[in-house]
Amino acid sequence: MTVKFLSRFVDLQPPTSDFRQDILAGLSGPQKKTLPKYFYNAEGSRIFEQICDLPSYYLTRTECEILTGYKSKLRDILPANATVIEFGSGNNKKIKLLAAAVGTIRSYVAVDISRNYLIESAEAYARANPNLVVTAICADFNYPIDLDEILGVGPRIGFFPGSTIGNLSPNDAIVFLRNIATVLGPGAFFVIGVDLEKDFQTLIAAYDDVEGLTAKFNLNLLKHINEQLNGDFDIRKFQHRAIYKENPTRIEMHLESREDQKVRIDDKIFHFFVGETIHTENSYKYTIESFQYLAISAGFLACAVMVDPEKLFSVHVLEVSR
Ligand code: AVI
Repeated sequence: MTVKFLSRFVDLQPPTSDFRQDILAGLSGPQKKTLPKYFYNAEGSRIFEQICDLPSYYLTRTECEILTGYKSKLRDILPANATVIEFGSGNNKKIKLLAAAVGTIRSYVAVDISRNYLIESAEAYARANPNLVVTAICADFNYPIDLDEILGVGPRIGFFPGSTIGNLSPNDAIVFLRNIATVLGPGAFFVIGVDLEKDFQTLIAAYDDVEGLTAKFNLNLLKHINEQLNGDFDIRKFQHRAIYKENPTRIEMHLESREDQKVRIDDKIFHFFVGETIHTENSYKYTIESFQYLAISAGFLACAVMVDPEKLFSVHVLEVSR
């Protein structure tokens, strides 16, 4: 894939050996499990984009409404001419809204694990904004990345929309937020979208849509394993499950084996009983207060929080403590 409009592309993509090691270890325990970052090959990123447009997946639509509706509040708090670093940038929909709210940004750094998808989206953004310095970094942002040289001087705004923070356990979320605070530095702002606790029906409809896209997204993980790790999963022999859990509130996604079966990945064999699952994702939901508590524990100050009238979703503006 050629890079034409980007000012810079930094490739810190983790090697396939990490993927192999994580999958083999995750499938070897008593509860088989995988990490959600492995959903996002090019196909997974595309399916996720389609999920975001589903009527039942209220998260994206509501977050966009908040970013648009609270434009002037965002402009009052956030500095102009900042470098905006978006973690898990995906398509460019939300950076456009944040940039419109802030007015002028000096440069944009897109960080994502899905390499080709990242280059495609960041290239499109750079082409549409020829006066902006656009950098793309392919990396797993769950680990600290040294961005100092790339970010340079001037105000910084971290941006983490979509409630991707919810895919980490609350403890891992604190570790992640601490890393972000270090990467951004004292005085920097962080704009983060966080999904809110709500009724069971709304959550299940969002994670088990009638269109079957979330099922396709979940099952695509098995295709990704087959393609990259020489596996022989028969995806017809697994089904998507979305389970609501409380204390703390979350949706768990699983892939359930439809029969007793053996699966091979490279030279390793894994046995599945009928009904046995691979736990593929958690999506934690917060209250405003429980998320602020987490952010403050990680070294941030809570500057503002914006919610939609139905209280489905929240956008927090945090500042790294000085
Ligand atoms: C990326 N992340 C915030 C999504 C979520 O809602 O947890 C991933 C997803 N899983 C199923 N649908 C969407």
